[in-house]
Amino acid sequence: MLAIIGGTGMTQLACLEISHRQLMRTPYGEPSGPLTFGKINDNEVVFLARHGYGHTIPPHTVNYRANLWALQSLDPTRVISVASVGGIRADFTPGMIAIPDQIIDYTHGRKYTYYEGIDSPVTHTDFTEPYCQITRKCLLEAAKQVGENVINGGVYGATQGPRLETAAEINRLERDGTDMVGMTGMPEAALAKELGLCYAAVAVVANYAAGRETSAHAIHLEDAHAVLEKAMVRVRNILERVVQLNGD
Ligand code: HPA
Repeated sequence: MLAIIGGTGMTQLACLEISHRQLMRTPYGEPSGPLTFGKINDNEVVFLARHGYGHTIPPHTVNYRANLWALQSLDPTRVISVASVGGIRADFTPGMIAIPDQIIDYTHGRKYTYYEGIDSPVTHTDFTEPYCQITRKCLLEAAKQVGENVINGGVYGATQGPRLETAAEINRLERDGTDMVGMTGMPEAALAKELGLCYAAVAVVANYAAGRETSAHAIHLEDAHAVLEKAMVRVRNILERVVQLNGD
């Protein structure tokens, strides 16, 4: 079974034939909402809306540990995370889709690990490659098969939010080597790694990052939402094909 975590612009999966929803409890509390089980073209899928089904949970208060724990308990073959980002590198223009391969984490004060507490051994998880390369390849292959041009790779800068960045912060992120900026990539990817999940992300560029191009003086959120709405149709096409490839 493939697991999909939907972000802003994807609180449900239109192509999913829903069989049931299930509330789950974990040692870390409750996930963002009930898990939605169903099928896409006869292949089993579980879907979770990261921000809740009514989009009420901001990035810094998402219970990432509960979300990943709940999904892991279902033993999914892969976990695909869909997230919107601001574009920093010149080719990360609104509407582009990327399959990132690296992360720089600028978040703070979130719950970053399952290994804490007096009974837990100190554990250092290797995070050299934050995303599962096989899952990335699956996404790239699916995109190719459905004729979607996606960017292979890119450094995802995870910021704390919920406010957007200043232009100077984006300049700093660019100097650091960041290609795109979003608020939910961490600690999600690190927790997935701790759990040994085959996890990769689909990043959808909703807007130019602060200070760039049409965002020179402000980020126009209505425009970003319109871009996302259109792009999510293409993301769904890619996901439908990934599910099929995963099931083959
Ligand atoms: N910054 C951070 N997160 C985002 C952005 C952005 O510009 N766009 C979409 N998610």
